[in-house]
Amino acid sequence: MIKMAGKIYIVGIGPGAKEYLTIKSIETVKSSDYTVGSSRAIELFSDVQNTIAFNVKDLVDKLKEGVELAIDDNVVSILSTGDPGFSGVLNTVLRISTEKGFPHENIEVIPGISSLQLAAAKNHIQWDSANIMTFHGRENIEDILKVIDNGKVTIALPSRKVKDMAQFLLDNGVEKTRPVTVCERLSYDDEKIVSTSLEHVAESEFTYMCIMVIEDKN
Ligand SMILES: C[S@@+](CC[C@H](N)C(=O)[O-])C[C@H]1O[C@@H](n2cnc3c(N)ncnc32)[C@H](O)[C@@H]1O
Repeated sequence: MIKMAGKIYIVGIGPGAKEYLTIKSIETVKSSDYTVGSSRAIELFSDVQNTIAFNVKDLVDKLKEGVELAIDDNVVSILSTGDPGFSGVLNTVLRISTEKGFPHENIEVIPGISSLQLAAAKNHIQWDSANIMTFHGRENIEDILKVIDNGKVTIALPSRKVKDMAQFLLDNGVEKTRPVTVCERLSYDDEKIVSTSLEHVAESEFTYMCIMVIEDKN
């Protein structure tokens, strides 16, 4: 018997705290046969049927498992921090689905509040007039130099460590005194928002869960 393809929801879960989950995300997960996500993401939901937890190392394998379950006619939610379309799992899931012949019309994206949006909100930034940059998992760090002096505030997801990103900017001529705000673990109880100079950021330790807001030149 030929099986019908099921459905995949790629669900944005917001920056991390439960209060930033959307009602749509909660209802989607509740009505799914399987939910794939990091343990931290899965724990946000109280009504989950079968869970498949991933970590950084087995992420792609678990996403493949999720797509295969959807091919077997299951409804599968794949959880993505923030919004799935901003440095999230959207493209990876689309690629795997293409490889496995799962129809893209059976994939629905449920948007979430991005950590970028929360960083902008916390800093009173109208983010449509900011440089939005993500270096997460990418090696295009030099792209920031093209915009850093264009008169706009820059909101960036750093590539590796925040201090390395700051050092890179210093090494490439950005002033030591350039104001930078590091937004760490936004929405969590231990959220930290530190406004200081680029030089100081280069000497400080932060976790990987940070957004950098770099003021414009003036
Ligand atoms: C794989 S990306 C996911 C981005 C996500 N799709 C979004 O829209 O926020 C992970 C990076 O997002 C940023 N990030 C995610 N959640 C965060 C939070 N609660 N506070 C600060 N930065 C966060 C960090 O830079 C982290 O390394």
